[in-house]
Amino acid sequence: MGAGSEPGFMRPEIVRADGKGIRRAAAVLRRGGLVAFPTETVYGLGAIATQDVATARIFLAKGRPANNPLIVHLAALEQALGFVWMDERARRLAEAFWPGPLTLVLPLKTRSVISKLATAGLSTVGIRIPAHPVARKLLELTGLPVAAPSANPSGRPSPTRAEHVRADLGDAVDLILDGGPCPVGVESTVIDASDPERLVLLRPGGVPRERLEKVAGVAVAPLTDDGPVRSPGLVGRHYAPRRPLRLEARAVAPDEALLAFGPEPLEGARVMLNLSPAGDLEEAAANLFAMLRALDREGVRAIAVMPIPREGLGEAINDRLQRAALPDTEATGTAGA
Ligand code: TXA
Ligand code: MG
Repeated sequence: MGAGSEPGFMRPEIVRADGKGIRRAAAVLRRGGLVAFPTETVYGLGAIATQDVATARIFLAKGRPANNPLIVHLAALEQALGFVWMDERARRLAEAFWPGPLTLVLPLKTRSVISKLATAGLSTVGIRIPAHPVARKLLELTGLPVAAPSANPSGRPSPTRAEHVRADLGDAVDLILDGGPCPVGVESTVIDASDPERLVLLRPGGVPRERLEKVAGVAVAPLTDDGPVRSPGLVGRHYAPRRPLRLEARAVAPDEALLAFGPEPLEGARVMLNLSPAGDLEEAAANLFAMLRALDREGVRAIAVMPIPREGLGEAINDRLQRAALPDTEATGTAGA
C-alpha cells in the first residue's frame, strides 16, 4: 500500500513474530527502543515502562498529550503485585479475565519504579496482562513492565494489522512485530478499581460489561459526562477516519461509502463493506478498524454506518463509532489515545 517509490527501502522493519523475531524485539525494547507488537485487541506501541527516555518517545511518536497515561503490560498477575495494590475485588476480576482484554486502573505503590511519564504523574496505573501469544512471549522475554498504548497517531483508528502501524507511524517505530490480524479488534475494557467504594467503566472494550458485572457481583458504573474527567484519554474525537462518519444510517447517498452490519445491507452505495453479514458482534469488532480505514478513501465524501446492537461487544463498537463521529472541532486540545 502507499506510493512506495523506493522499493526495498522499508523503514521500520516488519519482522515475522516467530521465536527469532520476538527475541529481537525484546532486545530492541531493553535497549530503549520502540516496538509495535500484536495483542489480542489491537497493536500496541511498546517501550520499557521503567525507562523515562523510551517512554517519552511513545508520546512523541503518537503526538499524545503528556497528561494521558499509558497502560502498563505485564506477563503475569504476580508481577502486578510489585507495582500496585490489589484488593480482593480487583483480584477476582484479574483472575477471571487475565490474561485477556481487561485493563484495571489500580493504586500505584509509592516506591514503584514505573516512569512518571507513563502514569502521567497520577497515583494510579492501568495494568493489563494480554492474552495474545506473541505479546505474552515478548513480555516474558523482556521480564519488565512494558508501557503500550495503541500504535496509532493520537485520534486515528487503532491498528489491527502490522501494515496499519507502518502506514501511520512510519519510522517513528524501531521494529514492528507482525503477528497477523488482531482477533478481538477493539481495545481492552478499562475499569477503574482504585476506589474501594465502586467500580467505574472508563472505556467499554473487549470484555463485555455483562460478563464483568457477573464476576464483580455489582453494577459497573459508566463514566458520566458531568463528573470529573477520570481518564484523560477518553475525551473528544478519537478513532476517527479522515472522512466524516454518519451513524444509524437508514439510507445511503451515492457519494457515501457504506459500513454495513447484518444480512440486509442498505442498497445504493458504490462502495460497501459489511462488518458481519451474519450479524455477529465479535466478527464486527474484529473488522471494525480495518474496514473504517479501507472505506476512508478517495471518491468517498462520507462513511454511512448502519445501526449496530448495543449488547455484548456492541457497546464497545458503538463507543468507538460515536467518538469517531464527533466533529473535528471537539478534538481541539483533547487527548486521543
Ligand atoms: O487494548 C488495549 O488496551 C490497547 C493494547 C495495546 O493493550 N492499548 C490501549 O492503550 O488502548 P491506549 O493508551 O490507547 O488507551 C488507554 C486508555 C487511555 O484512554 C488512558 O487515558 C486510559 O486508558 N488510562 C490509562 N491509565 C489510566 C489511569 N491511571 N487512569 C485513568 N485512565 C487511564
Ligand atoms: Mg488508543
